[in-house]
Amino acid sequence: MTKQNVYIETYGCQMNEYDSEILAGILSKTDKYNITDKPENADFILLNTCSVRENAEITIYNRLEHLKYYKKKNKNLVVGIIGCMAERLRKDIFSKSELVKIVIGPDEYRLAPEILQNSMAGSTGIAVRLSRVETYEDIEPLRKEGISAWLAIMRGCNHFCSYCVVPYTRGRERSRSVNSILREIEQLQTEGYKEVTLLGQNVNSYRDEQNQVDFPNLLRKVAQTAPNMRIRFVTSHPLDMSDDLIEAINEYDNICNYIHLPFQSGSNRILQLMNRGYTREHYLKKIEKIKNTLKEYSLSTDIIAGFPTETEEDHKQTLDLIKEVRFDGAFMFKYSPREGTKAYKLNDDIPEEVKISRLNEIIEIQNQISKENNQTEIGKIREVLVEKPSKKKPNEWMGRTKLNKVVIFDNSNAKYNAGDLVMVKINRSNSATLFGEVLE
Ligand code: SAH
Ligand code: SF4
Ligand code: F3S
Repeated sequence: MTKQNVYIETYGCQMNEYDSEILAGILSKTDKYNITDKPENADFILLNTCSVRENAEITIYNRLEHLKYYKKKNKNLVVGIIGCMAERLRKDIFSKSELVKIVIGPDEYRLAPEILQNSMAGSTGIAVRLSRVETYEDIEPLRKEGISAWLAIMRGCNHFCSYCVVPYTRGRERSRSVNSILREIEQLQTEGYKEVTLLGQNVNSYRDEQNQVDFPNLLRKVAQTAPNMRIRFVTSHPLDMSDDLIEAINEYDNICNYIHLPFQSGSNRILQLMNRGYTREHYLKKIEKIKNTLKEYSLSTDIIAGFPTETEEDHKQTLDLIKEVRFDGAFMFKYSPREGTKAYKLNDDIPEEVKISRLNEIIEIQNQISKENNQTEIGKIREVLVEKPSKKKPNEWMGRTKLNKVVIFDNSNAKYNAGDLVMVKINRSNSATLFGEVLE
């Protein structure tokens, strides 16, 4: 029997990127499916979706409109919605788009081979049960490239920030066993991977109960297991971020001193309405601990503008916090009400134009700080992990420093390959990128 071609398109966060690799692993392990990167050749197109803001879902509806074109060319094409939007909207998706025949939530990917098979005979398939135990720890992901790997160490979230759909789309927190993680890390190193990013909605909550291993100790073990790999992790929650974690980062050279620590709002009143569980003062204390412990560090964050009832004064406190911490980068969003969350019951009372102007103010200040921070890199020599040609000019390649800064350098003679570690002298910079020359 010829294999069916499956094309998976990923939206949303790194966890979704990883889940697409898990699903590809599950499907390609059977002898029925082949993963393709060409939608025009596909028998199945699966969109791995995000629900975090309304815009993320609008993007998917627009994409479904485009997919009609593929369906016209191939009458047998089956389209599926998987991931967070599948979990949030469940069977309602079928009525929103007649193109969709498959709906699979993030904890049900093991059922995909069977659901795909059945859909070929014309029936619709849905699997959206959330699990308290599923971690896919025995599944070998089908990874796309051989330099940098994602590895989910925990799934789900118990925090229930009042604005956030993730606890509903991803279910409760659960951790993968420490042994299965270390085995996979060892394998990645043997296969020549140079970097691994440990993923979780909340990595600080990682806990292997049986072996009594928490996140800082997991990090230490991972760092020891793969001394030649760069170790990264996202996302940290300020409430659960322990001093021991900061110490662990400091103990190992191969743990990257890059910390993504979302603060969301600088106002204690808004933080409380958001159910974040910490105050501005607590957050700043964690930042101080990072700055005092690590010789070098890079900080990034997430910020939401225009949460219900946010006043100019609250907004100003957010701006002040940005200026006080001086993050290297930030993901900045307008508040988007999500049905089913606690904040949805609050009146979304900040007018759109106010949300936009506050967001723009945040972006402007943060970009200026990013630019100034990057200027301090000029003249330094940094170890860069070579990744790929830059988007703009193919003879210029990009890579990253340990502090997660993107560096562009000349590679006209194709001297450097993906996965190489090179020393680069930084000559110039802007708010997003460093530019330099490789030292021989
Ligand atoms: N698990 C991670 C990421 C969650 S989603 C964490 O807890 O940090 C990524 C970011 O999207 C959040 O940090 C938040 O800043 C933003 N976000 C989540 N829900 C949102 C909403 N309803 N409106 C606007 N931004 C939102
Ligand atoms: Fe969402 Fe909060 Fe959980 Fe992050 S910690 S995933 S923002 S509920
Ligand atoms: Fe989006 Fe789901 Fe990630 S809602 S941000 S894809 S966990």
